[in-house]
Amino acid sequence: MIKNEHYTLANGIKIPKVGYGTWQITDKSICIQGVLWALENGYRHIDTAAAYGNESFIAEAIMQSGLLRQELFITSKLPAEKKGYEIAKEEFYATLARLQTNYLDLYLIHAPKPWRNAGDIDYTPDNIASWRAMIDLYKEGKIKAIGVSNFSQKDIEALIEATGFTPHVNQIKVHIGHNNLETKTYCDQKEILVEAYCPLASGRIFQQTDLEKTAAKYGVSVAQLSIRWCLQFGTLPLPKSTHEQRIIENLNLDFTIKKEDMDILSKWQ
Ligand SMILES: NC(=O)c1ccc[n+]([C@@H]2O[C@H](COP(=O)([O-])OP(=O)(O)OC[C@H]3O[C@@H](n4cnc5c(N)ncnc54)[C@H](OP(=O)(O)O)[C@@H]3O)[C@@H](O)[C@H]2O)c1
Repeated sequence: MIKNEHYTLANGIKIPKVGYGTWQITDKSICIQGVLWALENGYRHIDTAAAYGNESFIAEAIMQSGLLRQELFITSKLPAEKKGYEIAKEEFYATLARLQTNYLDLYLIHAPKPWRNAGDIDYTPDNIASWRAMIDLYKEGKIKAIGVSNFSQKDIEALIEATGFTPHVNQIKVHIGHNNLETKTYCDQKEILVEAYCPLASGRIFQQTDLEKTAAKYGVSVAQLSIRWCLQFGTLPLPKSTHEQRIIENLNLDFTIKKEDMDILSKWQ
């Protein structure tokens, strides 16, 4: 069953094949309830970020769940605006404190540039400095795997060239109609696992009524078809929902999309 399956990162760390996304879940009780439903229904991988403002709510949900820390895979992210060696370390420890844990399973640089007012500034040296901090934390055993998010091939090459250390993961936008093939192909060559964020196009996938026919053929929902497509495309999907039935549905993925349908869906524009 998908809920018990893992990908194995280049350093041998096992990562559950589907993660529970938590972006935009900013209300404390909704966040705690969502994470609890996810954990009760078999998710063991939670994706958060300092920028989501919900790390402490996730800690609370984990405590309430009664699950052991080592049963879980927790990812967080260094804010896009916070770059540099010391800053990265400070941010990492602040994240650990909010999550009430003494290690992370995966820590990512959230984006190569600040979200706003990045202009033409070259942030490569700043990303390299952050990356060096993350490598040191990884070598100290404080993080099981390290990576990046929203990085292009060029952004990743700069990190590798400067440090000789290849990210284990690149978390990028991937969904039916947005396959991000260029970056995905490069990451595959480098054994960098691609995590698919917005696997449901943040809800816009449901406007694609053509998908309903294909989903019906397999007796599944459009959400299940879309998330399963991410898996068969070789990526790790991070669906988000705050509704229990949808949370359950999004992990109920034990069917196979036929090659001819995969070929069509993978070429969707
Ligand atoms: N690294 C980055 O820069 C980055 C950027 C964006 C996202 N992410 C990560 O990726 C995760 C997923 O992306 P996302 O939050 O944009 O959303 P998404 O998973 O693509 O879509 C979520 C939307 O679909 C709805 N939905 C979920 N399951 C459904 C179902 N079975 N049937 C009908 N509607 C359903 C949700 O509504 P309800 O919640 O109301 O059910 C919500 O409106 C994020 O939460 C975050 O962890 C990372």
